[in-house]
Amino acid sequence: MKRLIAGAAVLACFSAASMAEEAIKLPVSFNADGTVNRPLNHRQWVNVGTTLIPQGEINIIDNLPIPTSEYIDTYVEPMAFAIYMATGTWPNGTQIVKEFTATKQADAGEVLTESHYNGLAMLVKDVQRFPTETGHLGYFNFGHHAEPYEATSKLLPREQCSACHEALASDQQYIFGDHHIGLARQQN
Ligand code: HEC
Repeated sequence: MKRLIAGAAVLACFSAASMAEEAIKLPVSFNADGTVNRPLNHRQWVNVGTTLIPQGEINIIDNLPIPTSEYIDTYVEPMAFAIYMATGTWPNGTQIVKEFTATKQADAGEVLTESHYNGLAMLVKDVQRFPTETGHLGYFNFGHHAEPYEATSKLLPREQCSACHEALASDQQYIFGDHHIGLARQQN
C-alpha cells in the first residue's frame, strides 16, 4: 500500500507531459566510453506485446534473413512505462528492449512454439546524452544470436536504426506505441 501511494505521488508530480521530458532523469547504466550496459533483468520489465516475424524476413540487427520465424517481445522499464501511461510522453531515461525468440520448425497449420531466446536490441531516450539525435533516442544492440548476449553496446549509426523509426513513427515520438497492445492509453 505504501508503495502504491508513493507511486501515485510520483506520477502526480509528473502529470504534465513537458515535465516528464525535462524534469525527470531515470537512471540508465552507461560507461565512461559511451557504451551502454545490457540490462540484467529486462524480462522482469513490463512486457507490452509480442509480434511474429515470418521466416525469411530481414532481422534489423544484422540485416540477414531469419532461418525460422521469430517472435519479438517488447519490454519497457517499469518507471518509464508508468510515466508514459500517465502522461503520454516518454520520459528522459526511458529504456525499451525488444528480444527476439527463434521458433521450432513447424508445418503449415502446426502450432509455432519457441525454441530459444535469440537476440536483444534496445533504445534509450536521453536528452543530455543525445541532444541532436532525433527524439533524443540512442539505439543499441547486444547481438542477434542465442545467449549469452554481449554485455555492452556502442551507439548504432542513424542509418541502421533511427532512420526507419523516423520514417515510420514520427507521429508517435519515434517509438511504435501503436504496435504494442500493452501501450494502448485511454484517450481523455
Ligand atoms: C525497417 C525499419 C526498422 C529498422 C531499420 C529498425 N527498427 Fe526498431 N522497430 C521497427 C518497428 C516496425 C518496430 C515495432 C516492432 C513490433 O511491432 O514489435 C520497432 C520497434 C523497436 C523497439 C521497441 C520499441 C518500439 O519502437 O516499438 C526497439 C527497442 C527497436 N525497434 C530498436 C531498434 C534498433 C536498435 C534498431 C537498429 C539495430 C532498429 N530498431 C531498427 C522498425 C525498425
